[in-house]
Amino acid sequence: MPGSLAPAAGDRHWTDVKQDAIVLGLLLEYKDDFVEGGVLCDKLDVPRAELLKRIDSLRARGYVIQASGGRGYRLVEVPDSIGEREIQPLLATGELGRKIHSYPELESTNDEAHRLAEAGALHGEVVIADVQTKGRGRRGRTWVAPKGKAVTFTVVLRPSLPPARAPEITLVAAVAVCEAARELGAASARIKWPNDIECRNRKLAGVLTELRAEGDRVRHAVLGIGFNVSMEMRDFPQELRATATSLLVETGEKTPRPLVCAGVLEHLEEWLSLHETEGFAPVRERWRELSTTLGHSVRITGEGEPLEGTAVDLADDGALLVRSEEGRLVRVVAGDVEQCRVL
Ligand code: BTN
Repeated sequence: MPGSLAPAAGDRHWTDVKQDAIVLGLLLEYKDDFVEGGVLCDKLDVPRAELLKRIDSLRARGYVIQASGGRGYRLVEVPDSIGEREIQPLLATGELGRKIHSYPELESTNDEAHRLAEAGALHGEVVIADVQTKGRGRRGRTWVAPKGKAVTFTVVLRPSLPPARAPEITLVAAVAVCEAARELGAASARIKWPNDIECRNRKLAGVLTELRAEGDRVRHAVLGIGFNVSMEMRDFPQELRATATSLLVETGEKTPRPLVCAGVLEHLEEWLSLHETEGFAPVRERWRELSTTLGHSVRITGEGEPLEGTAVDLADDGALLVRSEEGRLVRVVAGDVEQCRVL
């Protein structure tokens, strides 16, 4: 991708951020157990004094780390606020999230990301808000999430793709968010075409991709992700209670929001990179594996006459292929899918 953010030699801040991420990665891996100081020093390849700086740096960012003379270090608490300070130490990405613009409140993170991209923001810059007052969903809908209980963020992308291939990005994102959700404990997470992440037919996360193109060139894309993290059912508006879910509801455990954001960014970087090097084929294959739509009887609405039939495949450009009740194979490029039953 253009606009590479490879760290400059001597970029001390970035080295510290990476070292913090390594320490945190090990502490998270050991979960409730202690990690010996020597193990951490070996992993970082630094002396004990440098490790203490990293532990202090993490504590200053809100991580509660217990130290025990003989046993080492144990992570007791991860902060739940979603600023650059909390997210960056968790990130093992190269480009995505290197710069995080965080706000207590925005109308829409997608709008701010467009504004920053027009002003020159680089590939991978992230805009995140604790709450949105005009969050947008697909097809002109609003996206509502209570303050402090969701992760709502947008990534600026500068893909080298013609605009006609831009829908692929949305499916790349769906695969990445779905894999992140599963890794975070929502084992039943699947994708409803094109990019709703669902558990037990209830929406866990959504993706909204918007493009600014000039002729046959994408100037930039913004990839907005809304992920329901800590809501209990009563936190959702009445009209969503039958169709929404959250990571808390699915796993029974509260996951700190920076972990969700970091997890999504890591999977996103991995899939964007695979898409860039190998094209859409591997994305399509993984999307099919994670899909809850294929093989279902579906009703497509929102684009002219409703279409009823069976979802049979994902085309090699991301369209949904539906066998209509009259036996025609129809390419669906936009619309809402209602799924009826497994055939
Ligand atoms: C959908 O309808 O499923 C897509 C929802 C996308 C919501 C996210 S929240 C962050 C970003 N900012 C927005 O205004 N929308 C997206």
